[in-house]
Amino acid sequence: MPALIVSIYYSQRRYVDRMDRMDRMDGPAPSILFLPSSSRHRVSVSLNLALRLDLPSISLCAIICRASLATLLSLAELYLTMPRRVTVRVPATSANLGPGFDSIGIALDLHNTVSIEASDEFGVTLSGEGEDVLSQGQDNLVYQGVLAVYEKLEKRVPPLKLSCMNWVPLARGLGSSSAALVAGLVAGNELLGHPLSSQMLLQIATKMEGHPDNVTPALFGGLQVAVMNDGIVERISVPLAADLGIVVFVPDFPMMTAEARDVLPARVSRADAVFNISRASMLLAAMATGSIGHLRVAMEDALHQPYRRKLFPAMEDIIEAAVTAGAAGSALSGSGSSILAFVLGGEERVAEAMMRTGARSGVDGRTIITRVCYSGAQITERG
Ligand code: HSE
Repeated sequence: MPALIVSIYYSQRRYVDRMDRMDRMDGPAPSILFLPSSSRHRVSVSLNLALRLDLPSISLCAIICRASLATLLSLAELYLTMPRRVTVRVPATSANLGPGFDSIGIALDLHNTVSIEASDEFGVTLSGEGEDVLSQGQDNLVYQGVLAVYEKLEKRVPPLKLSCMNWVPLARGLGSSSAALVAGLVAGNELLGHPLSSQMLLQIATKMEGHPDNVTPALFGGLQVAVMNDGIVERISVPLAADLGIVVFVPDFPMMTAEARDVLPARVSRADAVFNISRASMLLAAMATGSIGHLRVAMEDALHQPYRRKLFPAMEDIIEAAVTAGAAGSALSGSGSSILAFVLGGEERVAEAMMRTGARSGVDGRTIITRVCYSGAQITERG
């Protein structure tokens, strides 16, 4: 059991501030005892407390708290009503949006759904994308996400049965691994009664994934900018002024992120840095103001696409074809192989142009016509 630290807070405000700081901390969460002055707060705080401590320590805390019988009953009720089954829906994401390498991502209206329930023994069932190749063992990424939450809270994971319905294509730059991780993290957190904040889940997910640009929109939805600041992820949701459609060309061949990162140079020129900084700024401004006419330029990149061309030589022709067919802007999605195009109507025409241009270079694939998904991972069932 972690060391028990006793802190006394006499106002809800100070308690909330403290919770906020806790959520920014890395490493295992310490057990913290909050003792607010009002009994109304005491119950909700005790519920939080219960989840941050191992169960045997709750009675100790309750004694320290001089909690009322009602508080003790609340704790018992909380324990008894923790869900045995949760279902989570997580969106696909497009990272590296235009010039936003490792920092800007957007959620798409295409989802994976994962149900997790307490069972007698561990098991994973898969259907849809990747059903023949994804692991059904404990190295399954969804399970790894669940495990990460339990480990963070120093809890023992009970035997769980996972059932995954996947619509997000694998290894195509559409955030399938982030969707899996986030599904596991959100489900695990829910199974434990929601002790960790979304910010803490983001922190864990980013650490596991290595970069924040997929996991942030997977958790929060919409257009997200994420910055790594001394290991802490800071993020902002960017409002979207225009109702953009999205066409995604999904080639038949995969691109593995690790391999696609290996081709990137360790250093870039000042000219390329300025190229991307100016376009990334313009991309966010264009999205927030609806200045869609600027998206063609604002979606350009000099930091990763030119280097990844050697893994996908037809990439630029397909991007060009999308824009020529009327797309507002287009870029490689994540580390590839999909290509994303923003449209204001004319989806079919853009999709056909991308398919045709790909086929001319020997790159077959399919297109997905979708939209921005404004909500991130969501619990859709709890029982
Ligand atoms: N930012 C990451 C990369 C995204 O480009 O390597 C991977 O999906």
